[in-house]
Amino acid sequence: SVGLDQLLASPLAQARASLARLAQQPALPLPAGLYGPGRRNSAGLDLAVAAMRAPLLAAHAQLRVPPVAQAQAGEAPAAVARAAAAFPAWDARPVAERAQALRRAADAMEARMAPLCALLVAEGRKTWGDAVAEVREAVDFLRYYAGEAERVMQPALLPGPTGERNELRLAGRGPWVCISPWNFPLAIFTGQVAAALAAGNTVLAKPAEQTPAVAREAVRLLHEAGVPPDALQLLHGPGETVGAALVAAPGVAGVVFTGSTQVARLIQRALAAKDGAIVPLIAETGGINAMLVDSTALPEQVADAVVQSAFRSAGQRCSALRLLCVHEGIADAVIEMVAGAARELTVGDPALLSTDVGPVIDAQAFAGLQGELQRLRQTARAVLAPAEAPAAPPHCIAPQAFEVERVTDVQREIFGPVLHIARWSGDPQAVVEQVNALGYGLTLGIQTRIDSRAQALAARARVGNVYVNRNMIGAVVGVQPFGGEGLSGTGPKAGGPHYLPRFCAERTLTVNT
Ligand code: NAD
Ligand code: ALA
Repeated sequence: SVGLDQLLASPLAQARASLARLAQQPALPLPAGLYGPGRRNSAGLDLAVAAMRAPLLAAHAQLRVPPVAQAQAGEAPAAVARAAAAFPAWDARPVAERAQALRRAADAMEARMAPLCALLVAEGRKTWGDAVAEVREAVDFLRYYAGEAERVMQPALLPGPTGERNELRLAGRGPWVCISPWNFPLAIFTGQVAAALAAGNTVLAKPAEQTPAVAREAVRLLHEAGVPPDALQLLHGPGETVGAALVAAPGVAGVVFTGSTQVARLIQRALAAKDGAIVPLIAETGGINAMLVDSTALPEQVADAVVQSAFRSAGQRCSALRLLCVHEGIADAVIEMVAGAARELTVGDPALLSTDVGPVIDAQAFAGLQGELQRLRQTARAVLAPAEAPAAPPHCIAPQAFEVERVTDVQREIFGPVLHIARWSGDPQAVVEQVNALGYGLTLGIQTRIDSRAQALAARARVGNVYVNRNMIGAVVGVQPFGGEGLSGTGPKAGGPHYLPRFCAERTLTVNT
């Protein structure tokens, strides 16, 4: 017979007890107007795509994308000067007026869901599910930062001695350069721009070379919503020339960058070399994101989370799973299930509703990934016989997985549907330390039915976002503030309560009364 103590100590009983505890906690209200997690999970997305099937396909059929005018590096100083001239008036507007402009843009974006999705599929090579999620995220960013600006930019009275009034005020800093990547060409582009504008700054937006038309559409909607043209300027062009010239231009008050760690370092050096005011940099970069699976984890749950996290969006998410660390006791079962589930994914044309994994972004990314795959075939054991990737559309890669000897064999981010797997035994804390030692710190998955172990591992991990017993992608604005540390970024976390103040000057006013 099994004693009560033994029963309570068992992983299943612990899982039930923690679920019961969670069920008793009051649910936090979701910030008004946000799409929220319930409508953002993959089942919800499938339903949304199914419900919008006709308008999505019609928008795709009607889509025309005229080329976006390229800026030259030499235009950067004059553009920054125009943004500096537009700054005092935009910053002087009441915060509620700036917030209203962002909310109008959010409404316009929501109303244009189908054409924006079609553009994301055509230019960003997104699947329909990813496109719907991305438009929702951009809308959430606009509404969230509008609300945050109204919350944090009220003057705060501070306690002080009698005969004195002390006040802390936040204000805009001046022109910000916003540099964004191609993998979230609407959500990240809009999030950076919305935060900078909400805080009273003016903006020079440099989208990724691959996705200028999505950025042009976001800028058009913001202009129509009331943001003056000089307060938000779009400069499309190569990062090495136009991006670098914007960073180097005199008068820039701040830079917000999302992209590779390597380019973040270049920007950091360029800013350090500038004369004049010290210019802050907010950088959100890449990761070697691990999932730690212990022997109590449920293999079916693990397999589903791994397939979602490693292969959805063709692995082109900074949050994506790169390194599965699985206890040797269940490794064979998990690998077999992951391989089986991955082979069920349909790889191909993102415009087809049946596609799970679309192509990678372009020929250069495809060539780079082929090089990485060739190296892995020679140095690691392939554990997932990949399905044949279709020849058309170009640049499709079927999900692949390779078993490596050690965690430390994985030294760089491979930005595609490629998973490393390492077996472990012994102390899971040691595995977390090995992952920490890789130097990145973006996302970590933990799969265990021992609640206390999940808590202890999460506390030891030096990463920005930990996900327990679920997939590790798709952070929700205002609900799961997103961003990393170490080689993964400077913070603050996008979609979180500390983001907006970093775009602001903080001023203390002391008045002798
Ligand atoms: P990238 O670093 O190559 O480019 C990002 C942006 O920087 C582009 O707009 C590019 O034109 C610009 N750029 C390039 N060189 C520049 C320079 N010298 N000066 C100024 N700007 C320059 O990154 P990418 O390939 O577009 O995106 C993929 C990377 O982004 C991955 O590493 C991914 O992990 C990371 N990412 C991070 C997050 C996050 O929130 N942490 C989100 C999405 C993507
Ligand atoms: N914010 C995106 C995610 O969580 C990158 O997947």
